[in-house]
Amino acid sequence: MKILGVSGSLRAASFNTALLRAAQELAPEGVAIEIFGLHDLPLFNQDVEDQGDPAPVAAWKDAVRGADALLLACPEYNGGVTGVLKNAIDWASRGKPAPLDGKVACIIGASPGVTGTVRAQDALRQSLRKVSALYWPLGEVLVGQAHTKIEDGRLTDEKSRAVLQRHLTAFIEKLRG
Ligand SMILES: Cc1cc2nc3c(=O)[nH]c(=O)nc-3n(C[C@H](O)[C@H](O)[C@H](O)COP(=O)(O)O)c2cc1C
Repeated sequence: MKILGVSGSLRAASFNTALLRAAQELAPEGVAIEIFGLHDLPLFNQDVEDQGDPAPVAAWKDAVRGADALLLACPEYNGGVTGVLKNAIDWASRGKPAPLDGKVACIIGASPGVTGTVRAQDALRQSLRKVSALYWPLGEVLVGQAHTKIEDGRLTDEKSRAVLQRHLTAFIEKLRG
């Protein structure tokens, strides 16, 4: 099973990208989580789209199409989804069928604040509903005070690792039916 891991942060020391790396370590047998970096994705512009998808957009759409499911690591900026992640969703919501049509997504997130991206994750669910991507609606991975739980890019907090592992296992079991 191939899961596409996507971080809504471009930051080298991103807590959310660190969560994806932890997910790679904790994924059940037979599950490969490949991380797709959004660094090269241009801002959505319908004029650009009308000329044909630029190479980074085509690569992003192919990666979404080729994945069995998405694992979205969702940082919170001003109570919402980062522009980086929203922009990626906007590109992948285009076309008939769109890469996101019917795609299942699992959402996780980390922030230094106590609420651990709960508002951004809700906002992300709103957008996924709009693009008719399905999402795993039960349970949440909210890693608050992430600066105390992620050291040198590694999720070291055992409780958070256990929560993430349980969440991933439930997600994969559901996917496998
Ligand atoms: C523009 C901006 C707005 C932010 N707004 C929030 C917020 O609303 N809630 C929150 O918990 N953290 C907020 N933060 C702090 C981020 O959670 C923090 O920078 C976090 O490290 C970003 O995720 P990353 O580590 O994956 O890059 C904000 C940071 C920035 C730069």
